[in-house]
Amino acid sequence: MIPNGFAEVLKNELKRVDDASVTKRNERVIETFEFPSGRAPRAIINGKQYVLFNANDYLGLRFNEKVKAAEHDASQKYGAGPGGVRFICGTSAVHVELERALAAFHGRDAGMVFSSAFALNLGVLHALLKGQSKDSLVSSNVLVVSDELNHRSIIDGIRVAGLPSEQKAIFKHLNLADLRRVLKENIGKYARAVVITDGIFSMLGECQDLGALQQVADEFSSQYPEGVLTVVDDSHGVAAYGRSGRGAEEATDAKCTLLIGTLGKGFGADGGYVVGDRLVIDYLRESVASYIYSNPVSPGTAGAALAAVTLVDSPDGKKLLEKVHRNVERFMAGASKAGYTFAAASSHPIQPLLIGDAAKTKALVAELAASGYLVTGINYPVVPKGKDEIRVQLSAAHSDEDVDEFLAALAAAGKKLQITA
Ligand SMILES: Cc1ncc(COP(=O)(O)O)c(C=O)c1O
Repeated sequence: MIPNGFAEVLKNELKRVDDASVTKRNERVIETFEFPSGRAPRAIINGKQYVLFNANDYLGLRFNEKVKAAEHDASQKYGAGPGGVRFICGTSAVHVELERALAAFHGRDAGMVFSSAFALNLGVLHALLKGQSKDSLVSSNVLVVSDELNHRSIIDGIRVAGLPSEQKAIFKHLNLADLRRVLKENIGKYARAVVITDGIFSMLGECQDLGALQQVADEFSSQYPEGVLTVVDDSHGVAAYGRSGRGAEEATDAKCTLLIGTLGKGFGADGGYVVGDRLVIDYLRESVASYIYSNPVSPGTAGAALAAVTLVDSPDGKKLLEKVHRNVERFMAGASKAGYTFAAASSHPIQPLLIGDAAKTKALVAELAASGYLVTGINYPVVPKGKDEIRVQLSAAHSDEDVDEFLAALAAAGKKLQITA
């Protein structure tokens, strides 16, 4: 039983959330999926069919037969759950194989898999910014520099590390001149700097120029006794972006100190991962609490992820990457023709349509849902006032007809709601 006093507080808090129209708890329940031949899977919600243009499954791998079969095989072999944390219960060969495959895919020595990229960021940032115990030789005499629009898990990871405010700096979104300014201003003050950024930004689909960012870090590295580390979280970029699905690093010709990704978007499975030099990964395995004291993904999920990594790195994966990018081009051309403008330049499967008005954004999302299409409306405070957008996410699972029919619905709704001319 909740004590009356606290129950009253919670009721008021939920009312506050609802009154502010930022409710998230009333999630849509997908009853099942239907699989029309040659078309994207249809989600069935309250008995009605929907085509998803709001999912992160950029290559359609969550329904891939090979990926699902690998999940089944791994759980038959190792069980439905991992049985406990790895340093106590041991680890399944499938987890080790997955880590090797991820490291090889990204051209690194070693990798580590976590239950989620969110949990990873909370733990890894703490370990990079601060030693885990009072005996640790890793000092917290560090400056962390973060892009102003970084994902919530990065913001929280920095928070959890608990550094004083002068050790936390933000550079303007995608503005490497500003990053340069911050690194220059702090020379001589800290043992090391850690620059952290999203690779692909999830709200607008923009890509950080990691090649140029790495150059800025290299320029200042000798001016910090322990150097300048670069950390990229490319959760939306991996298995979605770059010629062979290696994400923002591939697209901008870069190799950061650490690359973080999720297995739960383009790879179609679940879990988070980090790859880098063996020395850093060995340190992280010794020090990251959300790895040491928390279960890994289930063996089945690791098996599915391993099959997905193998698939992405094969001619079939190439075909899926080409297909999603053809869908992106088809969508961009069709949406422009229908009179829409884009909230940012993105060649990623995340395509943001600028609506610029909260009420019209809401109405457009509802109108599209009535026609059987799900997209995400994004309003202030997630984006600045007047920059309200709908985020459309393309997938290789969408057929040409799926994209064309969606564009027709989008054009009709735009006219009806006087969003487009
Ligand atoms: C940049 C970034 N990092 C981390 C996450 C969280 O990933 P996961 O679902 O694996 O926790 C997301 C997902 O929204 C993301 O966009």
